[in-house]
Amino acid sequence: MINFDYQNPTRVVFGKGTIPQAGQLVKEHGGSRVLVHFGGGSIKANGVYDGVKKSLLAAGLEVVDLGGVKPNPRLSLVREGIKLCREKKIDFILAVGGGSVIDSAKAIGVGVPYEGDVWDFYTGTAVPTKCLPVATVLTIAAAGSETSWSSVITNDDGAYKRPLDVKVIYPVFSILDPETTYSLPDYQTACGIADMFVHVVERYFTTVKNVELTDRFCEAVMKTIINNARRVLDNPKDYDARAEIMWCGSLAHNNLAGTGRVGDFASHMIEHELSGFNDVAHGAGLAVIVPNWMKYVYKHDLARFVQFAVRVFNIEENFHNPEETALLGIKALRDFYTSIGMPATLKEIGIEEKDFNAIAEKVKKFDTAKGTVGNFKLLVNSDIVEILKLAK
Ligand code: NZQ
Ligand code: ZN
Repeated sequence: MINFDYQNPTRVVFGKGTIPQAGQLVKEHGGSRVLVHFGGGSIKANGVYDGVKKSLLAAGLEVVDLGGVKPNPRLSLVREGIKLCREKKIDFILAVGGGSVIDSAKAIGVGVPYEGDVWDFYTGTAVPTKCLPVATVLTIAAAGSETSWSSVITNDDGAYKRPLDVKVIYPVFSILDPETTYSLPDYQTACGIADMFVHVVERYFTTVKNVELTDRFCEAVMKTIINNARRVLDNPKDYDARAEIMWCGSLAHNNLAGTGRVGDFASHMIEHELSGFNDVAHGAGLAVIVPNWMKYVYKHDLARFVQFAVRVFNIEENFHNPEETALLGIKALRDFYTSIGMPATLKEIGIEEKDFNAIAEKVKKFDTAKGTVGNFKLLVNSDIVEILKLAK
């Protein structure tokens, strides 16, 4: 295990009937003039918007709305939000929705006190030191943004999708009521499941040795996701299954699973450019990329892939042929994704081979001097293209 410094400051208020606490929680965290930020209308159709609004007004708060966040949230709306917050002297942002809404709220939050252009934070030219307090009412179990220090924004100009990871954007609180997820279309439920599973995979595949506790924690989260995925798809109003999936989504990405180890995250960086390129749903893009990333890198640490196959997918170990066991584990993940309706090929999500080089070029590199991304295995552009070819 390597040294770590772990603090996740987000207060989580979890369970049925928790939305009426929103107003009081905003007050407790110092808010008086609140921007309610949301997406394309799902919260109006399922009653979440009314519940939140009622609670905020009952607490005597001033409320300003800004809807219209699109999946793969756009920089243009972030800029609009910053302007609106300044005009209305907003002191608190409540994101009501999924990862896209929350990430847009975080971007507005760091943009308001900054004199320059908020995109600077996403290109790494500046580092935010202040953020308006941001809180969330989560309506989809997926991105984990409700307890993460990340915000991922797409620049409409050039379609670059870029993450910002910084402590000041952790939400101050997040309300997680699993009943809000009953209205999700199956496809969105499945995209969320695909994404949260990969958040664990990205941390599980590490080169750091002696990480037994976090290995087993990762395995528990992955197995719980698998066990409950079918249940929520077969019965979208199964509260217990929705609750398991919702909590998995947060635990997969609040970085407890990443303590004492180094995660990989190359698949995420590759997928972000698929989303930026073709507006692909993030989870669907990951479902295509990750099994192929695994096929490309498994020889790098065969034992870890055997462990994944045996412990997560209950594959019987072939002692004489560990490679076979590892490949069966990768196939089991592929089959799991297919069973929940996720795509398996780039063709299915509208990405063609002629664009592979351009996508590889755009992928954010962790080491810009060497042009590499990932940690489990360092990938350069030609490796990314090979992974995309496996996925075509
Ligand atoms: O826009 P509305 O009408 O709200 O509809 C949304 C949207 O169309 C719909 N939806 C959400 N809750 C619903 C609902 N429909 C019916 N009933 C409900 N209860 O679902 C669609 C997808 O929403 P979105 O917010 O885009 O989903 P998700 O939570 O998967 O977020 C994806 C974004 O998060 C980023 C991704 O890159 C992507 O842009 N990520 C953010 C991370 C972070 N900040 O830590 C980490 C992730 O790895 C990820 O990169
Ligand atoms: Zn993700």
